[in-house]
Amino acid sequence: MSTHINDNAKFAKTVLMPGDPLRAKYIAENFLVDYKLVTDTRGILGYTGKTKDGKEISVMASGMGIPSIGIYSYELYKFYGVENIIRIGTCGGYQKECHVGDVILVTSACSSSNYAYQFDLKGGVLAPCSDFSLLLKAYNNAKDLNLNVHVGPIFSSDVFYDEDPNYYKKFANLGVLGVEMESYGLFINAMRLHKKALCILTVSDTFVNKDEKDLTKEERQEKLNDMFKLALTMGD
Ligand code: HPA
Repeated sequence: MSTHINDNAKFAKTVLMPGDPLRAKYIAENFLVDYKLVTDTRGILGYTGKTKDGKEISVMASGMGIPSIGIYSYELYKFYGVENIIRIGTCGGYQKECHVGDVILVTSACSSSNYAYQFDLKGGVLAPCSDFSLLLKAYNNAKDLNLNVHVGPIFSSDVFYDEDPNYYKKFANLGVLGVEMESYGLFINAMRLHKKALCILTVSDTFVNKDEKDLTKEERQEKLNDMFKLALTMGD
């Protein structure tokens, strides 16, 4: 069926996608019931099970970067009947109001990636964005869970260790909330295949609040758990 996901893997309509395979395992082991490992090709772990309130859900890693999430999200949508992919990741904060530990619901992604060149848009550009119905549901559920939530655009970078330490300011000055490395590819695959995508991010570090301390390991896990709980409300 596909070369990067186990042939007979069964997925729920909604797949949560952390970058890290061990985070997929952690979510299955701590938040799902009746779950099964359905794929492990290249160590990219995927599980299908139910939330504790009985909703069907899968969780599978995307790996890092647009090419990686580009492959896995395409195959899930195209070959495995998946309708909704919800990326759950971390980002660097670009705005003062986006504190470490806060949640960003991504409306749209700008990027330095050439992923959209394949469509030969002759100078035109896409505006890759989250599905509004998923975004609205996540926003309402985030409010119910009392999360510190921001809603807006992010920058999906192809570069983590940028040669120019001030490059981020170009996007920060334009009101972009933060930086990560995957949403742009996921949103474009949802657009081209007429499926739905959403991206939920926890701010893990900040470019602007210089006196803000990094989270301890425990605080970080607690904040990630808050995001996982929100994502788990998105099952059907
Ligand atoms: N840059 C890119 N991706 C990220 C970052 C960052 O600073 N933090 C979390 N994901």
